[in-house]
Amino acid sequence: MEFEALVRGRRSIRGYKPDPVPREIVEEIIEVAKGAPSSMNTQPWYLHVVTGEPLDKIRKGNTERMLAGIKPERDFPTKEAYEGIHRQRQIEIAVQLFAAMGIARDDKEKRTDWVMRGFRQFDAPVSIVLTYDKILEPAAISQFDLGAVSYGICLAAWERGLGTVINGQGVMQSAVVREHANIPDDQNILTCIAMGYPNEEFSANGVKSRRAASEDFVTYVGFD
Ligand SMILES: Cc1cc2nc3c(=O)[nH]c(=O)nc-3n(C[C@H](O)[C@H](O)[C@H](O)COP(=O)(O)O)c2cc1C
Repeated sequence: MEFEALVRGRRSIRGYKPDPVPREIVEEIIEVAKGAPSSMNTQPWYLHVVTGEPLDKIRKGNTERMLAGIKPERDFPTKEAYEGIHRQRQIEIAVQLFAAMGIARDDKEKRTDWVMRGFRQFDAPVSIVLTYDKILEPAAISQFDLGAVSYGICLAAWERGLGTVINGQGVMQSAVVREHANIPDDQNILTCIAMGYPNEEFSANGVKSRRAASEDFVTYVGFD
């Protein structure tokens, strides 16, 4: 696929067919994505590709602990809540997704159901958990590098007819993910990427998120 069409066409996928993803295809995707640049070529990423029973155990444990009111447990400090323009954009995508899914503002049951889907990584057949060595903390630069490889994974997957959604929801309870994905104690879990064949009938999959006008965030200096 032509690069620009690939970038413009990709969107996050939150409804999947149950069909398994062949391991060879995931391997191909990773071969492409690992071409990402990284700080001083440190390539600080580890990718734990999980499917089948271990993934089901992660979904179950993550959901049960969230439902039980156990505080999310991440491996590094995260911002509690967005404010201002960031909050506005967060609301905008939520409104778009809920409208597509026919979830009314006051429909608590459907809203909870949607959040639960997130904790199950949208029932995707594969999840790629991204980690880095704990010794790299404070790891902002390494997290940046993992971001680069993540986008490569999303694009290489999309080119092969596979959908993805990078999601923090799936690793809210990092201890559960660590246990079932066999993640060593000396690695920190950054996030995960749910992956699978898009369910075309799932309406949220058609949602195209908006982007700010470039003049809102770009400054040109020294051009005449
Ligand atoms: C670090 C990161 C974490 C994310 N976490 C979630 C999540 O927990 N649940 C979710 O539904 N989407 C999540 N997303 C997907 C974003 O909502 C999505 O990328 C954004 O709305 C832009 O939409 P697009 O990917 O369709 O272009 C996450 C994306 C990133 C980069």
